[in-house]
Amino acid sequence: MNPGIVTVSYIGATILFILALGGLSNQETARRGNIYGIIGMTIALLATISGVTGNYGILIGGLAIGGAIGFILAKRVQMTEMPELVAILHSLVGLAAVLVGFANFLGPAHHTGVELTIHDIETYLGILIGAVTFSGSIIAFGKLSGKITGNPMLIPGRHWFNLGLLAASVYICKMFVDQSAAGHGGGLVPLLIMTGIALLFGIHMVMAIGGADMPVVVSMLNSYSGWAASATGFMLSNDLLIVTGALVGSSGAILSYIMCRAMNRKFLSVIAGGFGTTSGASAAAEGEQGEVVAMEPHEVAQLLKDSKEVMIIPGYGMAVAQAQHIVYEITKALRAKKINVRFGIHPVAGRMPGHMNVLLAEARVPYDIVYEMDEINDDFPNIDVSIVIGANDIVNPSAQTDPNSPIAGMPVMECWKGQTTIVLKRGMATGYAGVQNPLFFKENTRMLFGDAGKSLDEVFKAL
Ligand code: TAP
Repeated sequence: MNPGIVTVSYIGATILFILALGGLSNQETARRGNIYGIIGMTIALLATISGVTGNYGILIGGLAIGGAIGFILAKRVQMTEMPELVAILHSLVGLAAVLVGFANFLGPAHHTGVELTIHDIETYLGILIGAVTFSGSIIAFGKLSGKITGNPMLIPGRHWFNLGLLAASVYICKMFVDQSAAGHGGGLVPLLIMTGIALLFGIHMVMAIGGADMPVVVSMLNSYSGWAASATGFMLSNDLLIVTGALVGSSGAILSYIMCRAMNRKFLSVIAGGFGTTSGASAAAEGEQGEVVAMEPHEVAQLLKDSKEVMIIPGYGMAVAQAQHIVYEITKALRAKKINVRFGIHPVAGRMPGHMNVLLAEARVPYDIVYEMDEINDDFPNIDVSIVIGANDIVNPSAQTDPNSPIAGMPVMECWKGQTTIVLKRGMATGYAGVQNPLFFKENTRMLFGDAGKSLDEVFKAL
C-alpha cells in the first residue's frame, strides 16, 4: 500500500483510539467508545498487514490461530473471571515484547554509532518491561484465580533485593551496549541475564502484594503492558504501536491512581507490597462479633414496601449470582409504588473496574439512578432500607474504626447510618480481603441468607 495511505490510516486509527478512551470514561458513551476502538483496531490491522511483503502464509496462520484462541476465550469466560483473563492477556503482551526484542536484536543490524546505541537501549528496555509484565501478570493470574495464595510473600530485606535487581539491570545495560557496539554479534549474554533478572523481579513484585491490593496491580500491569507495546513500537519503528502503547500505558497508570485513591492507598506502598494479607482478621473486628438477625424474603418485601428511600449496594456476590436482572425487576416494582430507588457503586466493588456498572447496564438499569460512592455516601442517614447484594469489604465499617484491619483507611459505603440494612449473602464467609465484617452484627442490620438470585426472586414474588 502507498506509504501515505498507511500514515493516514495510522493517524485515523490513533484518533479513533483516543475517542474510544474518551467514550469509555462514561457509561452512556461506553458502547460508542468500544465501537470506535473496534474500527480503529481494524484499520490498524489492515494498514499493518498491507505493509507486509511475502510470508502471508505465516501472517494469516498466526492471525487465524490467535484470533480463534481469543474468540473462544472471550466466549467462554464468565463475567467473574474477567480480571484473570485480563491478567493472562497482559502476560501475552509482555511475552510478545520480549520475543520481538530478541528477534530484533538477532536480526540483521541496520544501525551504527549513536543510532545503534539508541536502538540497543530501546531493545533492552522493551525486553525488560516485557519480561516484568510477563512474569508479573502470570503471578497476578495465579493469585486472582486462587491458584496462588493471596497472602503477600515477604522475604527479609525485600526492598534491598529489589534495589539490587535494579542496580544490576542498569550495570548489565551498559555491558550490553558496549558488547553490542563492539560487533561480532556481542551482547546476547547480558541480554539473557537481564531477561532472567526482569522475570524474577516481576514474580517477586507481585508475590509481595496482598490480596486486597490486587485491583491496583491488575491496572498497573495493564499500564506496563502498554509501555511494553510502546517500547516494541520504538524497536520496530512503528509509530502507531508507539502511540497506542503510550495510550494504554498512561490510561492504565491513571486508572491505578484512581483505584489507589478509591482504596486510600499510596501507589508506592502498594508496589512495595505487604498489604492485604488474608490472614489479617484483626482482633477488634473479631471481638465485635455477636448475634446476627436473619429475615425471610416476605419480611424483606414488606420492609421495602413500607419505605420511601431505598439504596441498593451491589458487590461481587451479585455478579456470582447473576442477580442483576431480578434486581432491576424489583427496582421497577418499587418505583411503580413511588419509592425512590438508587444504586450506590463503590469504585472497587466486584473484581474489576466498572464491574457493577457493566452488570447493571446489561440489565438496562437507567444510568440516572446509578451513583458513585462519593455522590451518595452522605445520603445514608436519609435512607430507609439499604440492600447489600453480595457485597462485603465495600460495606465494612472496620475500615474506618480498626487501624489494624487489612482494609483500614479504604473508603466504604456507610450504609449502617441508614435506618435498616439488609445484607444478602449465602453464609458468614468473609469477602475478598478475608476480614470479618462488624456490619452484620449491628442492631439495624438484617441478614437474608441464600444465593442472592434466588433470595431476590422470592422477594420479588412477595412484592
Ligand atoms: P467481597 O468483599 O469479595 O464480598 C463478596 C461477598 O459476596 C462474599 O462475602 C460472599 O459471601 C458473597 N457472595 C458470593 N457469592 C454469592 C451469591 N451467589 N449470592 C449471595 N452472596 C454471594 O466483594 P465486594 O464487597 O464487592 O468487594 C470487592 C473486593 O474485591 C474488595 O476487597 C476489592 O479490593 C477486591 N477486588 C476488587 C477488584 C476491582 S477492580 N473491583 C479487583 C480485585 C479485587 P458468602 O460466600 O457468604 O455468600
